[in-house]
Amino acid sequence: MHIQFDETNLLAAIAGDAHGVTRAELKDGSRCIRGALAGFRRQSEQGLYGFPHLPFQATLIRSVRAWAEGVRGTFDTVCVVGIGGSALGAWALDCGMRGPHPVQGAFTAAHPRLVILDNVDPAFVEAALDSMNPRKTLVLVIAKSGSTAETVATFLIVRKWLREAIGRKAAQRIVAVTSEGQGDLAALAAREEYRTFPIPANVGGRFSVLSAVGLVPAALIGIDIGKLTRGAAAMTHACWREDLAENTALRAALYHWLLWTRKNKPIQVAFPYANRLWGTAFWFRQLWAESLGKARTRQGEEVHVGQTPVAALGTTDQHSQVQLYIEGPNDKVFTFWALESFGAAGRIPREKLGLDAFDALGGQSLAALIDAERRATAAAMTEAGRPNCTFTLAKLDEEHLGAFLQLLEFETAFMGELLDINAFDQAGVELGKKLTYGLMGRAGYEPYREQFAAYEKKRAAATR
Ligand code: PA5
Repeated sequence: MHIQFDETNLLAAIAGDAHGVTRAELKDGSRCIRGALAGFRRQSEQGLYGFPHLPFQATLIRSVRAWAEGVRGTFDTVCVVGIGGSALGAWALDCGMRGPHPVQGAFTAAHPRLVILDNVDPAFVEAALDSMNPRKTLVLVIAKSGSTAETVATFLIVRKWLREAIGRKAAQRIVAVTSEGQGDLAALAAREEYRTFPIPANVGGRFSVLSAVGLVPAALIGIDIGKLTRGAAAMTHACWREDLAENTALRAALYHWLLWTRKNKPIQVAFPYANRLWGTAFWFRQLWAESLGKARTRQGEEVHVGQTPVAALGTTDQHSQVQLYIEGPNDKVFTFWALESFGAAGRIPREKLGLDAFDALGGQSLAALIDAERRATAAAMTEAGRPNCTFTLAKLDEEHLGAFLQLLEFETAFMGELLDINAFDQAGVELGKKLTYGLMGRAGYEPYREQFAAYEKKRAAATR
């Protein structure tokens, strides 16, 4: 397993002092980053944060694998009902290992498809149900809290759809991944005797891809979760090393932190040059945004920090975003994600057409072209003083994807330490959730209904 981080185009020697990292800043930052490593390690050892331990849960990994083997062949579709951290990891894994929709291979019982019902757009949910056969669908409802409105509502619809088709056997086709013995979903699962898998209390949604949240759907669609967690375990060992040269996550955190806080780069563009990493880019967007966008430090000081993550796809977004990236405000750091090997060359037929553009590319490969496009874009950005760096994965298999996900989680955790914020909570989304339940009439949420009414009144007064 090999993942490399090339930071050369972030250095002041290349990008200039105004937008690149100077030697003095690096020296200064190295002391802080060691403190961040020690601080996060201490909290992880105290059991406050569980994601570093997930790849080592041999018993869980074995039991998920054995159970998935046992049910294989009885369904051609796995329908995940979940949102945010309870859905994006499964999407990243599916997209990474089996290709982005709609170019995955034909779906069969041996090769089931994954349908993720996250958004509560009624037309989307209806179309998804129409596209699935309830007799050949396994439903996986995932929610750590057990009460997220979107998941609860959609699950009620899916549960009814299953029951109408297969009656009392529906409960055997439903699996719940949720907090053990806690929350409404766990209670319903116990009442209706669903097969359940636990989410550890110290693992939050966006850090849960290597818990049952990601492993169960992955195993059901045929991803080798042994290799996935093996890659993540190897990366975990590397992420605890003190030597920056050996610890890619720590080094990347240091550079991204310096760019963000010293060079005024409030935006990070995650720029994969591989369609199969597109799901991971969306997973990363949530990880970085929800973990690092915070109002206060751990001491309570008001800071309102955050670096906005943007997902861009190479080469597609060269023809959509790069004009802005090169000539617009110099407020971004670009992180390319590259593959050394795509597992397919994409030979371009050699043709002598007497036409320069065609004759130049004929006989080469798409792999060479996408690689050239990425390196050319990095060079053009660098020439324009736009700091950029590159993660390169030797290839995209289970081991590399597991390792890369773990690397990005560690980088996020280190960044949280550097900023002295709690990267593991999400207080900012709570009010919206409560107001929603107030509007939907949930018992106990009457004060939020009143708060919403007051807000509406304020709006009406403002336009009078
Ligand atoms: O990262 C997080 O904690 C959130 O994005 C949650 O995953 C999301 O809100 C869904 O929560 P739950 O799993 O409780 O339905």
